[in-house]
Amino acid sequence: MDRNLTVAILGATGAVGQEFLRLFEARNFPVKRLILLASARSAGQTMTFRGAELEVQAVCEEAFEGVDLAFFSAGAERSRQYWPAAQKHDCVVIDNSSAFRMDLDVPLIVPEVNGDSLTSSARLIANPNCTAAILLMALSPLRKIAQFSRIIVSTYQSASGAGAAAMQELRDQTQDFLSGNPIQQKVMPHTYAFNLFSHNTPINEFGYNDEEWKVIAECRKMLDLPDLKINVTCIRVPILRAHSESVTVEFDGPAPSIEDVREVLNTSHGVRVVDDRANNHFPMPLDASGQDDVLVGRLRQDVSNPNAISMFISGDQLLKGAALTAVHLAEFVIATGWVGREVWV
Ligand code: A2P
Repeated sequence: MDRNLTVAILGATGAVGQEFLRLFEARNFPVKRLILLASARSAGQTMTFRGAELEVQAVCEEAFEGVDLAFFSAGAERSRQYWPAAQKHDCVVIDNSSAFRMDLDVPLIVPEVNGDSLTSSARLIANPNCTAAILLMALSPLRKIAQFSRIIVSTYQSASGAGAAAMQELRDQTQDFLSGNPIQQKVMPHTYAFNLFSHNTPINEFGYNDEEWKVIAECRKMLDLPDLKINVTCIRVPILRAHSESVTVEFDGPAPSIEDVREVLNTSHGVRVVDDRANNHFPMPLDASGQDDVLVGRLRQDVSNPNAISMFISGDQLLKGAALTAVHLAEFVIATGWVGREVWV
């Protein structure tokens, strides 16, 4: 692809933002000019892109003038604040935050899952919650062989989902714990090293935390199954950057055979089956870290229910859970010619 686009990253200095730079280089993303935006705290800091040092700018409304495509990854509040400015400057936005995901007129897309529902009129496209995106990469292919009626998920979520500061807190606490120093808590609500806790988001009136509620709502929207029975328990574990999920899938009738499940997953883009029973080798967050594919394994019939199967998933939270899906979305939009003033229109 020719390098023709002016691209901005809002949240460039964050854990996801840094992945965008790496992915743009690795995938030869068609960037002509890259604008790095963050808070005033980071203004003047430099980041390396294609061997050049680029200066980070404090975001402001004028920053989107002349920008073809912007990736928002600085939290929901900033997305709500800067989408109108981007819209005014006719910039297509791929938003990694939760700000617009459930808006009826905003497509919520993972290309492999529901890319066919994206239309050329979309100027704002929401990238789903990381846990939902990773889950749906494994669930969605199953629809080719059987209809599911109920999903039960328990998660083992990494620090990266809470940002670069949470990753650093996990490193620091681990070091302090092993050195016998007092543990310092700055980002997470509980000691993180050598511990696990219920996801660090507020609990609603039904006893579900925000993360669980997002996964439920977003899966229903993306699968276009508004009445899907789905129950989720989200847990933070002391892992740096890959989320894992234990999933039971119940079908309308007898569950498909494990051979058929393995076959359909094996032929799905972005999924890798890791299911070596003889060597007890199944998806692990360390294996998933830095990988584009979502790993799926522990495939088995649910002995408690002939209509259900169980599986275990690991996916890189910063990649398929965030930046990679956003870049896939952008590539998808670019390929259709819906973005870019000169070449792509
Ligand atoms: P900064 O590094 O200047 O704080 P993470 O998810 O890893 O915590 O990253 C969050 C990203 O969002 C960072 O790039 C951060 O920039 C950016 N950010 C946070 N608050 C603001 C703000 N008020 N305006 C612009 N960017 C922000």
